[in-house]
Order: sequence, then C-alpha cells, then structure tokens
Amino acid sequence: MSALRQATLRAMTIADYDAVIELMKATPGVSFRDADSRDATARYLARNPGLSLVAEKEGRLVGCLMCGHDGRRGYLQHLVVLAGHRRQGIANALVDRCLAALAQLGILKSHVDVFRTNALAQAYWEHQGWQLRTDIHRYSFVSGGLQNA
Ligand SMILES: CC(C)(COP(=O)(O)OP(=O)(O)OC[C@H]1O[C@@H](n2cnc3c(N)ncnc32)[C@H](O)[C@@H]1OP(=O)(O)O)[C@@H](O)C(=O)NCCC(=O)NCCS
Repeated sequence: MSALRQATLRAMTIADYDAVIELMKATPGVSFRDADSRDATARYLARNPGLSLVAEKEGRLVGCLMCGHDGRRGYLQHLVVLAGHRRQGIANALVDRCLAALAQLGILKSHVDVFRTNALAQAYWEHQGWQLRTDIHRYSFVSGGLQNA
C-alpha cells in the first residue's frame, strides 16, 4: 500500500484549529498572523465551506491546506505537510482535491503567495507547473495600524 493511501483527506473544521496551528508554527517558512486567529479561521471556513482540507494518518494531522475564493479566483494558503511525511504525495493530493472543488464552483484559476525566502515552497509550486508571476506586484494595506494583521 502506498504511503498516500494510508493518509485520509477530509474537510478542515474549526475543531482542527489547534492541530493546524501547531503544524504551521512548527514549520519554517510559514507565517502566523492575526488573520490566523481562531475567530478569523472560523469565519474563513464558514465563507468557504469544504475547500480547506486536512490530511490525517493514524489519527494524527500530517497536512493541511487552506483555500478560499472570491467568486472569480481561488486563493490557496498554508499548504503544510509534517516533516517526516513529505515526498509521499500528500501535498499534491491536497492541492488536487482543492482545485477540483474550485473547478466544481466554476473557478479555474488560482493564486498562492510564497515568501521569496521560501525556496522549498518555490520548488514545489514550480515542479507542479504553477507559473511564477513577474508581471505584477502585490500591494497591501493594513487598517488600524496592527503590525501583525
Ligand atoms: C511544500 C510541501 C507542502 C510539499 O509537501 P509534500 O507532501 O512533500 O509534496 P508531495 O509529496 O505532494 O510532492 C509532490 C511533488 O512536488 C515536488 N516537490 C515536493 N517537494 C519538493 C521539494 N522540496 N523540492 C522540489 N520539488 C518538490 C516533486 O515533484 C514531488 O514529486 P516527487 O516526490 O515524485 O519528486 C512541504 O515540503 C512543506 O510542508 N513545506 C514546508 C511548508 C511550506 O513551505 N509550505 C508552502 C507554503 S506556500
């Protein structure tokens, strides 16, 4: 049996919050911000039902992917697979399932932000055929002056 077949994918719920945050915080290259609070995550999951996913092996959370859309484009965030369970197809399975769910909603183009310092993530997305955008800059604005919004 392949390693992936031992992993189970299912929709993330707010009950997964603590385990997902633990996984994120233990992973270099993944940021944790105010927008990752429990309340904000609950709001995000409610707005984007069924699109965020977790992977489990033997009852342990080993991967996650958060996904939302604005009606036109999909936005992927926080793709993380626990070290020790990588290169077993878990990330690809999460992304494939997420993109299939977006396609069901008529959304065929998606974006993901990657820190320029995260070479591992860049290698992953480029190997999967995602196109590095050199034609746009992303501008951000924070209301209220919170530095970690
Ligand atoms: C990026 C990450 C999610 C990949 O998870 P994974 O489960 O190991 O990925 P998969 O096993 O599905 O990889 C599938 C393919 O992607 C490519 N790939 C995966 N990791 C790679 C790496 N480190 N370097 C180059 N290619 C890679 C390969 O083509 C791989 O296929 P192969 O194993 O048959 O060669 C994982 O390394 C991780 O959690 N990294 C830290 C968190 C992070 O930076 N996330 C991205 C935030 S945007």
